[in-house]
Amino acid sequence: MARPNGPIVVCIINLKGGVGKSTISAMLSRYALAKRNLDVLAIDLDPQANLSQALMHANYNSFLTQQRPSIVEIFNGYQPPVGGSGPQPLGSAVELIAQIGNKTLQLIPSRFDFSDNLTQAVRPDPKILARHIAANFQHKDLVLIDCAPTESILTRAAYHASGLVLVPVKPEYFATIGFPLLQESLDSFRKSNRGNKIEVAGIVINNAFYDGGNNGGPEKIRAMTDIKAEAVKNNWPIFDTQIPFSRGFPKIMRGDNSYSGNAAMFPYFALEFFKAIGL
Ligand SMILES: Nc1ncnc2c1ncn2[C@@H]1O[C@H](COP(=O)(O)OP(=O)(O)OP(=O)(O)O)[C@@H](O)[C@H]1O
Ligand SMILES: [Mg+2]
Repeated sequence: MARPNGPIVVCIINLKGGVGKSTISAMLSRYALAKRNLDVLAIDLDPQANLSQALMHANYNSFLTQQRPSIVEIFNGYQPPVGGSGPQPLGSAVELIAQIGNKTLQLIPSRFDFSDNLTQAVRPDPKILARHIAANFQHKDLVLIDCAPTESILTRAAYHASGLVLVPVKPEYFATIGFPLLQESLDSFRKSNRGNKIEVAGIVINNAFYDGGNNGGPEKIRAMTDIKAEAVKNNWPIFDTQIPFSRGFPKIMRGDNSYSGNAAMFPYFALEFFKAIGL
């Protein structure tokens, strides 16, 4: 049964790179379908297309060569003409990643030429994605949007479409470098879009232990002190459960499930996350 007000929409963002946004987006998407029986849409808003590759693996290449619709076409509003016929309607334009019973995990993939495409467009409308979700995906339980680490029209597109923000951080020096920027960008978005009450669901500490299974030592303690201070300043909660460092994550991302190591602990965070967002 669909939710009365449509899906919960969460964007995964940090204006700092390499903190685990795409890894967490992929892990949460799969977990939501497999373990929580949710109907899920994942959206890749990053031209690096890491989430698309992590969910599609080898199929990503055929998606590119067959020129199937991606987030680029959604921003353009049509599929380019083929074989002499004109522009084609988009429909819901998704890739099927997994299905259990009548529930699916679907993906709107990204392409490397995404940013070129947008900069060539005359003032792309940041509300297009929100409209596309409202028109086509009200039956979903959850939409997860993986964002790029830089602020752009795509960040605003993610804000327009989302009710909640999940902020992954790595507990190391420079961990909070992106926080003031993110808070500023959320504040300025809320000011100019008073109807939108986008909120930070929480900060998740990712990559929490270091190689060898130690606890991160004094550097982690210092980083955690910084993260807590910045979180209090912005009134952002921090999830109690941390996601550990694990060589299993990169393996799982490439579709190799032969070893998961501490990545097997991901469900502890997922449980807390889904409880927090009410799903
Ligand atoms: N908990 C973890 N343990 C070990 N490796 C991790 C963990 N989380 C992420 N990684 C690895 O760190 C690298 C960066 O992760 P990921 O691509 O998810 O970050 P990102 O925030 O999406 O990066 P970008 O800002 O470039 O989009 C990847 O190689 C990923 O496999
Ligand atoms: Mg990423």
